[in-house]
Amino acid sequence: MDNKKFYVTTSIPYASKKPHIGNTYEFILTDTISRFKKMQNFNVCFCTGTDEHGQKIEELAKKENISPEKYANNVSEIIKNMWKIMNCSYDLFIRTTDSHHVKAVQQIFNKLYEKGDIYKGTYEGWYCVPCESFWTNSQLVENKCPECNRDVKKTKETAYFLKVGKYQEKLLQHYEKNKDFIVPNFYADEIINNFLKPGLQDFCISRNTFKWGVPIDFDPDFVIYVWLDALINYITSLKFDLENPSENFKKFWPADLHVVGKDILRFHAIIWPIVLMMLDLPLPKQILTHQWLLYKDSKMSKSSGNVIYADDLVNFFSVDTIRFYVLKAMSLNHDGSISYDNIISTYNTDLANTIGNLVKRVCDMIYKYFDGIIPEINSNSESVLEKIALESFKNYYKFMENYDISEAISQILNFARECNKYIDQTTPWILAKDETKQELLKNILYDLAESIRFIAIMFLPIIPQTAEKILKQINCSNKDLNSLNEFRNLKSGTKIEKPEIIFNRMNQEEKIKEIEKYFNS
Ligand code: MSP
Repeated sequence: MDNKKFYVTTSIPYASKKPHIGNTYEFILTDTISRFKKMQNFNVCFCTGTDEHGQKIEELAKKENISPEKYANNVSEIIKNMWKIMNCSYDLFIRTTDSHHVKAVQQIFNKLYEKGDIYKGTYEGWYCVPCESFWTNSQLVENKCPECNRDVKKTKETAYFLKVGKYQEKLLQHYEKNKDFIVPNFYADEIINNFLKPGLQDFCISRNTFKWGVPIDFDPDFVIYVWLDALINYITSLKFDLENPSENFKKFWPADLHVVGKDILRFHAIIWPIVLMMLDLPLPKQILTHQWLLYKDSKMSKSSGNVIYADDLVNFFSVDTIRFYVLKAMSLNHDGSISYDNIISTYNTDLANTIGNLVKRVCDMIYKYFDGIIPEINSNSESVLEKIALESFKNYYKFMENYDISEAISQILNFARECNKYIDQTTPWILAKDETKQELLKNILYDLAESIRFIAIMFLPIIPQTAEKILKQINCSNKDLNSLNEFRNLKSGTKIEKPEIIFNRMNQEEKIKEIEKYFNS
């Protein structure tokens, strides 16, 4: 087995509509994790894709008078393009309409049916069309769907079921033994106490009221429930085949990390592990559950007119400004919030004033006092910034390892603020006028340039284009994460690029007017 491999996946969004910035956050987060793992020299496989079956897509296609295939093709392209706009570089893209996926889903269904883990029975209960979910009487909340609060229809029908109850003990044991199976850990307690301990009801995995799905090949009146179909993407992306396991599957499975939103954790924390147990396959190592990105403090929805899309945002902000904003706004434990006002103020405070200003000030001084050449350092000299740099990197590394990107960003910003403070305290412009202070001036500017290198490398997985720009500015080609275990690694004597402003301050009022004009026209 390849110990240095890292297989990471996002959930696969429905190809029913354009993803909003909340959905997009998940891809930016996973892209950041994937880039960081690559910097740690892992052989990374980053997989994403689109979930293309189900009644919703069938109905939307009907409304547009096109086939569901065509509908899903269009939206899948829109989704792919959104990830491209956001500079998310995945390695695999799986569509649940891919023929090898459809074949593998049928193969798995048949095998579990033969094994007795899937059986045909009768369902009596309530059905929610928008959620495509069945509910029992006791699960309803005030006679409405417990998930979306909409009306449900009484149903009695023959259907296929997954015998999840048979595996609940085994799954409980897995949770007992693997305390970090779900991050943050409190979600595991929720799964154990609210679902596993009370007992699992067998799970309905077929539908026969519509056609757009993977057919059960031995009973073609039925299609396979979209969630079972979709979960299997995590192995079909690696070209899983029951009879003939692919090289990629052998190399990358089990997944090291599934990244999912909190609303779909249940499927990933219960159904998916049980399906894998039924197939005698190893379980994913970890599931990272992220919070929700809200518009101000409410859920984004088309009907409330508060949906923000990344492809609109890039008309007013750089890709990195958006990546930075959402990654900083979302903590591991709380929902985050987005609004145009907040993006502008975060941009001005953190990117323009703290980071941009630091880089420009230091490079300007190196240009002015040393003709743009990074000065020689007296290696015996004491360094005030060294301790702060090494400490910031250590903390940053720990947070990145725990997928707490928001805290990792705070470490970088704190360090940059310390550097700005250091400039104000050491006043290099006064030292420059004093012949006897040249050595000291050299040391100060060298250490500041080295600190900028630290900041840029730490920013590489988060805001890659900007980080590259900063590294280019100081003409540094060493992007090795390990080089940050030592301070004063930057090469002296290198000529830096002519200083450029990386982040121009924005005028809040003017920017808001520009945004309003765009949406009104
Ligand atoms: N198709 C399923 C996933 C199947 S995975 C085997 C699905 N798709 S989705 O398009 O509805 O959601 C995709 C992801 O976006 C989910 O992880 C979901 O939690 C996430 N988000 C949806 N709204 C969100 C926010 N407002 N904020 C953050 N993430 C959000 O579910």
